Amino acid sequence: MGPRLEGPNLFLLILGLVLNSLVLFCHGGRTSSYVRRLEATVDMPLDSDVFRFPPGYNAPQQVHITQGDVEGKAVIVSWVTQEAPGSDAVLYWKENSSKKLKAYGKSKTYKFYNYTSGHIHHCTIRNLEYDTKYYYVVGVGQTEREFYFFTPPEVGPDVPYTFGLIGDLGQSFDSNITLTHYENNPTKGQAVLFVGDFSYADQYPNHDNNRWDSWGRFAERSTAYQPWIWTVGNHELDFAPELGETKPFKPFLNRYRTPYRSSGSTEPFWYSIKRGPAYIIVLASYSAYGKYTPQFKWLEKEFPKVNRTETPWLIVLMHSPWYNSYDYHYMEGETMRVMYEPWFVKYKVDVVFAGHVHAYERSERVSNIAYNVVNGICTPVKDKSAPVYITIGDGGNLEGLATRMTEPQPKYSAFREASFGHAVLSIKNRTHAYYGWHRNQDGYAVKGDTMWFYNRFWHPIDDSPSE
Ligand SMILES: *[C@@H]1O[C@H](CO)[C@@H](O)[C@H](O)[C@H]1NC(C)=O
Ligand SMILES: *[C@@H]1O[C@H](CO)[C@@H](O)[C@H](O)[C@H]1NC(C)=O
Ligand SMILES: *[C@@H]1O[C@H](CO)[C@@H](O)[C@H](O)[C@H]1NC(C)=O
Ligand SMILES: *[C@@H]1O[C@H](CO)[C@@H](O)[C@H](O)[C@H]1NC(C)=O
Ligand SMILES: *[C@@H]1O[C@H](CO)[C@@H](O)[C@H](O)[C@H]1NC(C)=O
Ligand SMILES: [Fe+2]
Repeated sequence: MGPRLEGPNLFLLILGLVLNSLVLFCHGGRTSSYVRRLEATVDMPLDSDVFRFPPGYNAPQQVHITQGDVEGKAVIVSWVTQEAPGSDAVLYWKENSSKKLKAYGKSKTYKFYNYTSGHIHHCTIRNLEYDTKYYYVVGVGQTEREFYFFTPPEVGPDVPYTFGLIGDLGQSFDSNITLTHYENNPTKGQAVLFVGDFSYADQYPNHDNNRWDSWGRFAERSTAYQPWIWTVGNHELDFAPELGETKPFKPFLNRYRTPYRSSGSTEPFWYSIKRGPAYIIVLASYSAYGKYTPQFKWLEKEFPKVNRTETPWLIVLMHSPWYNSYDYHYMEGETMRVMYEPWFVKYKVDVVFAGHVHAYERSERVSNIAYNVVNGICTPVKDKSAPVYITIGDGGNLEGLATRMTEPQPKYSAFREASFGHAVLSIKNRTHAYYGWHRNQDGYAVKGDTMWFYNRFWHPIDDSPSE
C-alpha cells in the first residue's frame, strides 16, 4: 500500500503540485512560434549536380581537410581517387611564394559487404605558419586539382576567431540548403565544428557506401577549403553483423582522420585541439566512457591541462545531447552526463555543442550534479559555472525534423525550434563571443536565435538572454 492521501498529506500534495506548476510556467524558456512548412526530407538523387565527379582521369574527389595537430600548424588533407592509386603527394605553398613544398601520405581501399572503395588518401602537412593562406594541389602528375586554406592565428587569448556549427547534415535537398546558408552567411566561419552524423549511408540497403562517396563530393565545396573538426555520431557506427560487418566505424575510420594522437588520445573518436582562442574537446558518445575506460582516463587528465590564459574559450563537442527537451532521443545522453557533468562545471566549460536530435535547442546555464541517490536532489538548477548546451542537429538529413517536444518546456530549456539550420560562434576576445543560429527558411543574414556569451573564466557574469 502507498501513503494514504487524506488530511494534511493531501493538502501538501496539492500545494506541491500548485507550486510545481507555478515554477514550471514562470521560468520556462521559449518555444519559437515560427512554424515551418513540413515537407518530406529526401536525399538528392545520385545524378545531382552536387554529386558530380570532377572531370579528368582519376581526378581526386571528396577532398577534405582537418586540423592535424594540437596547435593548428598541421593540416590533414584527404581525398579519393577512383580508377587508380595515383600520387600520394600534396604540393603546397604559401600565398605569393614561389617555393613549393611536397608532403607524402598513404592510400588504401576498404571493403564493406559487397562494396569496394576507391583509393582513399591521407596526407599530413606540418610546420605551417600561422595566419597564412596556403594553396595546395592533389592528383599530382595526373588530373591535378588546386584548393586553398587559411591556417589559424597563433594560439592565444585575444585572437578573434569564428567557428561554424553544423550537425547531422546528411545529403538531402535540405542539407544542401544548410550548407549554402553557411557559405553565404555574412559572418564568415573559418572552421566548422561538426557534431556528428555525416552521410546517413547506413539508411540505404547494405549501408550502400556509395552514399559515403556522394556525401564526400557534396561537402567538398566547404571541406576542401576549411577544416571541419569531426565528431562521430551513431550514423558513423555502420555496425552490421547481418552483412558480416562487425567492426564499428569502418567507413568513417577509413575516410576521415582526426589528430587524436597529438592530444594523447588512444582512439580517433575523442581528442582535443587548440585553435586560436579556443580549446576544443571532442567526446565520443558511442565509445565507452564509464569510469576506468580509456576515454574517461583521458578526459580526467585533459581538463586540468586547459590553461584559460592561453585559450580562454573551452568548448566541448559530442553527438548525443545531455539537455534535450524533444521527444526524440530523450535522455539518451544521460549516462554520459552523470559521469562527466561535475567536471564540466568544475572546469567551467563555456559551451557544449551536440547534434543527434534533428532540431535546434539552447539551454540555460544549468547543472544537475547534486544528486547522490539518497538525497532526492535531481532537478537541473541554474549554475553560473555550467556550460550552455546547444543542440544543433538540424543540418537537414533524410530522417526529417524532430518536432514533438516535452511539454511544458522544461526550465533548463531557453529556446527551441524545429527548423533546419546552422550556427556561427564569433569569438571576439577573451571575454566576449557572439553567437547566432540561422534557420534555412530565412535570408542568409537573418538570425533566429542569438546570444552574447560571456567567458566563464574571465567574465563569469550572467549571460543568459532569457533573464
Ligand atoms: C599576395 O599578392 C597579392 C597581389 O599582389 C596581394 O594583394 C596580397 O596582399 C599578397 N599576399 C601576401 C600574403 O603577401
Ligand atoms: C551488392 O548487393 C546488392 C544486393 O544484395 C546488389 O543489388 C548490388 O548490385 C551489389 N553491388 C555490387 C557492387 O556487387
Ligand atoms: C545545391 O546548392 C547549390 C548552391 O546553392 C546549387 O548550385 C545546386 O544546384 C544545389 N543542388 C541541388 C541538387 O539542390
Ligand atoms: C598558461 O598560459 C600562459 C600564456 O601562454 C603562460 O604564461 C602560463 O605560464 C601558462 N600557465 C601554466 C600553468 O602553464
Ligand atoms: C571584447 O569584445 C567586446 C565585444 O566586441 C567589447 O565590448 C569589449 O570591449 C572587448 N574587450 C576588450 C578588453 O577589448
Ligand atoms: Fe544521431
